[in-house]
Parts: sequence; C-alpha cells; structure tokens
Amino acid sequence: MDFFKNSELHIDPNIQLEGKVGWKSPSNIALIKYWGKYRDQIPMNPSVSFTLSQAYTQTICEYKTKKKDDNKISIDFYFEGKQKPEFARRINLYFKSLLDVFPFLTQLEFEIFSDNSFPHSSGIASSASSMSSLALCLSSIERNIFNIHLDEDEFLKKASYVARIGSGSACRSIFPKISLWGKVNEIPESCNKYGIPMEDYLHKNFKNYHDDILIVSKIAKSISSSDGHVIMSDHKFKEGRIQQVNKRMHFMMRALETGDLEKFGEILENEALTLHSLMMSSEPAYLLIEPNTVKILQRIESFRKEKKLPVYYSLDAGPNVHMLYPNSIAEKVTEFIDNELVKYCKDGDYIKDYLGSGPKEIDFS
Ligand code: DP6
Repeated sequence: MDFFKNSELHIDPNIQLEGKVGWKSPSNIALIKYWGKYRDQIPMNPSVSFTLSQAYTQTICEYKTKKKDDNKISIDFYFEGKQKPEFARRINLYFKSLLDVFPFLTQLEFEIFSDNSFPHSSGIASSASSMSSLALCLSSIERNIFNIHLDEDEFLKKASYVARIGSGSACRSIFPKISLWGKVNEIPESCNKYGIPMEDYLHKNFKNYHDDILIVSKIAKSISSSDGHVIMSDHKFKEGRIQQVNKRMHFMMRALETGDLEKFGEILENEALTLHSLMMSSEPAYLLIEPNTVKILQRIESFRKEKKLPVYYSLDAGPNVHMLYPNSIAEKVTEFIDNELVKYCKDGDYIKDYLGSGPKEIDFS
C-alpha cells in the first residue's frame, strides 16, 4: 500500500462525527531557492530553508459529517474573521486534489478559520505557513477519525507530503529549524515529494540564528510565485540554473554542517540575487525588487565590511529583505537597523524573527 494514499478511509455513514483541530505553523526562508516546478509541485531543483518562529499562520478546522455524501467539497472559510471567497476557491481545489490521500473529505463539512501573526498585506508570503497549518489540520483529522497510529516522524512526513500538494515551500515549514526538500544525491533520505528535517545536521553556530524581515512594500506582488514557477519552465537559463543549484546545494550543506558563516552568507546572497535575475531575464521579464530594496542590500554589504560582522541578506519572491545573523551580534544589528535601515521600510516596519521549533498543535481539551 502507498504510505500516503489509502482509498479505504471512508467514514461509516451511520456514525455522526464532529470535531475541531488546530495548528500554528510558521513561515520559512529558503537559503537555496525552489524556483521552477513540474506538476503537483514536484520541484525542478532541491531547496533548503530555515523555519521561522514569529511569522506564522494559525488554522482551526471544525468538521462534522454530512447527512449524505454528495461527492462535493463543502467549506466555509474565514480569514482574519471574514469570509474570503478567493481563498475559499483555492482551498476547495486543494481539497479536491487531495481526494486520493483523504477520500473522506467529501463526507465532511468544514468551517476553517485562518489568522496570520504578521500583519495582513505586510508583503510577506503566507502560502508556506497557511498551507502547512492546513495540511497539519487535515492530517490530525485523519488521525482522530480513523485512530491511525503513526509515530511523530511518520505523521510529519505525511503532513509534509500533503502540504507540498498545496504549496511547494509549505512542505519545508513542517520541521523545526531547518528542512530540505528535493532529491540531493548525497542525502539518501531526501525526496521530491516531501521535506525532511535537518536539525541534527545544523552546526551550533546557527543556534538561535536571526532573520529580521524588513518590509519595503506592503503591496501584493504583480506576479505570484506560482506564476513565476510556470514562467521558469521554459526559461532560457533553465539548464544552467539546475546545474548551478545542485553544486550550490552541496556547498551550502557543508557550510551549514561546519558552521562556516562566511561561505553560508556568500551562497545565501548569491541565491537571492540569482532568483531575482532569473525573473528579470525570463519571458515575460518582471521586476519585484524596489529602489529601497537595493539601498538596503547595499547598506548591509557595507555594514558587514566596515564592522566585520557576519550579517547577510536574502530575498523571497518580493521586495522585502531578510537579514540573517547570529544571536551574538543581535544588539549591534538592531542598532544598525533602527539607525540606518528603518527609513527604507514602509511605515518603518520590520519583523524580528528567528529560527523556530516548528508547528504546534492547538490543545482544545
Ligand atoms: C521564491 O511555494 O509559493 O519563495 O509551489 O506554486 O505554491 P507554489 O510556490 P511557492 O514558491 C516559493 C518560491 C520562493 C522560494 C522558496 O521558498 O523556496
């Protein structure tokens, strides 16, 4: 039997069931970027990310059995207390795509409540946190209804598989501190279908590592990541990118294992710039960074050189800047941000985040 799919999971129609589950799940920042995919979020290349802590989504799912299974998905979806039809449509499609994993989804009706810890429209991508928290809720519902006994590792592996079907980067948010997704030959347990935990691999130099997110713009981006992946599928530099990223992954994993902050930072920044240069050289070409993004990147670089401190940047698919640095220099970096960088941030906003311990189930008992 396929570990992820069980066509026998149907609810006895004579039993009335209802319940409630909830998960808080964090966002993540990719160190090596997932950029380009095949069907169902099978990635064009492996990626590795730090799991964050303060930027998370909380999802609560209430469910009860329908009087009659009409083969339809029934969801009422509330985002920050309000019904959101455009999100509901995406979740509807997501549930449909999961019917071979969770065939019982058409037998239940759902009320789903989702809230982000970060301000709505802060320009922070929320698909990783929102889809991972929803995937964990569905995995908990399956466990509760069918009394499935998976150990913790198996439960998270399945949740990561389910999250990946919702949004590729979400499958990495399932694990504490650091997660790898996509086949890397030197890491035999790595796989394209789900993320794997890599905390044991991480050198102590990355303990309590910080990631401050400087909000340059709060406007939704012009091209979503999902569209960006599609545009990547016939990018003229696609083959070169795949070769580059596989080599880079090797050196990034070594830097993470040996605690080499300089090598880590060098690859981190180059990946961020590569991601945006792929966007700028695609057809159609597009630009997601803004003048203030560039100013911040340049200031980080000169601060690092002047002060000889290991502060490096990364970018997601948007204009906001992630600043990564060790806990030992946190005070100096905060002073630097407050004195020199907040002026480039929209409304002076930035989020102080750091490596987190992964998703947490909400206890309703
Ligand atoms: C640039 O996971 O948002 O953040 O799989 O289509 O939902 P879909 O895309 P998504 O892409 C994230 C791209 C990225 C890099 C990364 O997180 O690895």
